[in-house]
Amino acid sequence: MTHQQFPNTRKRRLRKHNFSRRLAREHRLSVDDLIWPVFITPYEGQEDIPSMPGVARHGPDALLAAAERAVALDIPAIMLFPVVGEDAKSEDASDAYDPAGLVQTSVSAIKERFPELGVMTDIALDPYTASGQDGLTDDAGYVLNDETVEVLVKQALSHADAGADVVSPSDMMDGRIGAIRQALEHDGHIHTQILAYSAKYASAFYGPFRDAVGSAKSLGGASKESYQMDPANSDEAIDELILDVNEGADMVMVKPALPYLDIVRRAREAVNVPVMAYQVSGEYTMMTMAAAAGALDHDAVMVESLTSIKRAGAHGILTYFAPAMATLLSD
Ligand code: PBG
Repeated sequence: MTHQQFPNTRKRRLRKHNFSRRLAREHRLSVDDLIWPVFITPYEGQEDIPSMPGVARHGPDALLAAAERAVALDIPAIMLFPVVGEDAKSEDASDAYDPAGLVQTSVSAIKERFPELGVMTDIALDPYTASGQDGLTDDAGYVLNDETVEVLVKQALSHADAGADVVSPSDMMDGRIGAIRQALEHDGHIHTQILAYSAKYASAFYGPFRDAVGSAKSLGGASKESYQMDPANSDEAIDELILDVNEGADMVMVKPALPYLDIVRRAREAVNVPVMAYQVSGEYTMMTMAAAAGALDHDAVMVESLTSIKRAGAHGILTYFAPAMATLLSD
């Protein structure tokens, strides 16, 4: 490529006018890019989450109202995250695959009312383990891999039975994508999609989420570093992505998003399935709390951060901003 010298090249010419900025724009957000993570509880009503301004836990009726809002805003899909009481937590996490459980009943209620809305579910045991870990633990507190995968398979099947369109393992156990794919096929769930959290980092940016679902208390300061990825690694992420695609993932995910845009870019180049990025709770909270304090412009940082995730290569973005962003796009 030839590179012309100044003043033949004045990069600012195109930036001077809105019409040419519009024509030159390489990436733009669309409502089609958005997945809305929604917290659900068995209790009626809606409860604000103090560490996540503007985000609530939804009881059964509030969940249907949220689903209706998603449909009205043309958001393609929502992802459900359960907040269950102590009575649903145990050593064996058996509530995770209860056909009458919170996620299962919520999925069928949404699919019955809004069949066109994509419903995604989180596959991991952290809401249901007494330890707050994503898997079953041994006496030393180590998260067991193969034993956990067996429970994750039951959890995924119960979600598929309830009508989930997409199951999304966020647990980072080895071999779980292959095991879940095989079980889904075996049970005739040939259309159930798997969105694999392939490159999920052991991140401090999950803090507000753990408050929201109550796993921070169960974890009691314990870490997830024995299964989630080291934030210092990048080649390893590519290995994880390729493994999950080969095991049968339809889509892959990088999480968190903003501190890991290099991974999103590498993921896009490494695999040919859709790459999703999760703008996690801590990212959302940093921006919304700074905006509430008057230090940042809420809508401007929302648009800029989401655009940067697209520019990095993401096909879709899980974001707590989804309803606000969709509203802005529709105005
Ligand atoms: C747990 C899970 C976590 C998130 C999604 N699924 C937290 C964790 O790994 O402790 C984090 C999402 C967010 O921070 O918004 N399986």
